[in-house]
Amino acid sequence: MRIQPVDASAFRELAATTIAGELPFGRVFTPHMVVVPYATERGWHDGRVVERGPFQIDPAAMCLHYGQTAFEGLKAHRQQDGTVMLFRAQSHAERMKRTAERLCMPPVPTELFLSAVNALVATDHAWVPDREGTSMYLRPALIATEAALGVRPAQEFLFFVIATAAGPYFQGGFKGIRVAVERTMSRAASGGLGSAKVGANYVASLLAAERAKAKACSQVLWLDASEHRWIEETGASNVFWVEDGTLYTPPTGDTVLQGVTRDSILRLAPQLGVPVEEKRVSIDELIGGIRSHSITEMFGSGTAAVVAPIAELLVGDELVTIGDGSPGPASRKLYESITALHRGRAPDKFGWLTPVPRPEWA
Ligand SMILES: Cc1ncc(COP(=O)(O)O)c(C=O)c1O
Repeated sequence: MRIQPVDASAFRELAATTIAGELPFGRVFTPHMVVVPYATERGWHDGRVVERGPFQIDPAAMCLHYGQTAFEGLKAHRQQDGTVMLFRAQSHAERMKRTAERLCMPPVPTELFLSAVNALVATDHAWVPDREGTSMYLRPALIATEAALGVRPAQEFLFFVIATAAGPYFQGGFKGIRVAVERTMSRAASGGLGSAKVGANYVASLLAAERAKAKACSQVLWLDASEHRWIEETGASNVFWVEDGTLYTPPTGDTVLQGVTRDSILRLAPQLGVPVEEKRVSIDELIGGIRSHSITEMFGSGTAAVVAPIAELLVGDELVTIGDGSPGPASRKLYESITALHRGRAPDKFGWLTPVPRPEWA
C-alpha cells in the first residue's frame, strides 16, 4: 500500500531551531505521524501521513481494556554526508509481526511497515539531528480500536508511527550503571508474553524498577519467573557479560525479547575478535564469577542505548562491582563499532542500513 504523503516544508525552520537545542530522549516529537486503519472485512486501508495530534478513540476501544497493543522501537541516523539511514528496519518489521501474531492481531505486512516508517522519516527528514549520538527514534504501534466489551480478538485496529528527535543516550559520558538483582518479582513467565514487544511486559516491570530506583539503581536484573535463578534481561535490554575473554548472553526462548541490538552484537563481536556464545547462567554463578574476577564486564543492549555498561550489581544489601566499575574493552568496542556503522564511519558489511529518500523540498 502506498502511504499518502504530505508536504512538510512549512515545518523545516521549526525543525532546525528545535534540534539545535537540548534533546532529551522520547519527548521532542516530530510534527507528523502515519496512520493506517485495519478492519477484518477491508484489510489495511487509507494509509496516510498526517499532522501529529490526538486520536479519537472510543472509551470501549479494546486496547484500553484488554491490552491488545503491540509496538516497536527503531532509529534513523543522519550520516556524515547528510543522508538518513534506517537501522535494521526489516528486523523490527519482522519482530512486530511475531508480536502481533502472539496477541491475535493482524500482522502488519513488512512492506507496509517499511513504507510507513520511510514515509514518516522522509516527511520529517529535517528533524533527524546530526550531532554525534543523536538519532530519530521511531515508534510504530498497533492498537485494537474496535469498541466492544468482552474478551476476544478485536476486528478493528490502527497501525500508527510517531517519531522523536533523540539526543545522545549517554549525556554524562559512556559510563556504567548500578543494577538491582530482582529476586521476587518477574517480568515474564514461560508461556507468556516475554518474547513479544507489548505494553503488558513494561507495566509488569514498573514496580520492581521503582523499588530499584529507591535504592539508587537505574535498572533491574530480571531472573526467570519459575526458579528466580536464571539470568534473563536487564531493565528493557538484553544482557551480556564477559567471562574469561568470551562474551555471553542468555538464550532467548519465550521469556526474553529477541533484541535486534542483541542480534547485531552476536554477529559483530566475532569480527571484532570477541568470541561470543549463548549460555544459561544462574545468578549465583554470575556473582561468583564477578567476585573471582573471571567475569570482567557486563552490559545491557538495546536500540535506545546500544550498549549500556553495568558497573555494579546490588545483591540484597550488598554492592558487587564488576571489574573496576568502568566500561570494559568489549563494551567500548561494540558501542563504538555499532555507532560508527550508524553514522556511516564504518562499512555496512551486513546490509543493515537502508537509505530514506530525501523529499524534494527538504
Ligand atoms: C524487554 C526488552 N528487552 C530487550 C530490548 C532490546 O531490544 P532491541 O535491541 O531490539 O531494542 C528491549 C528494547 O526494546 C526491551 O524492551
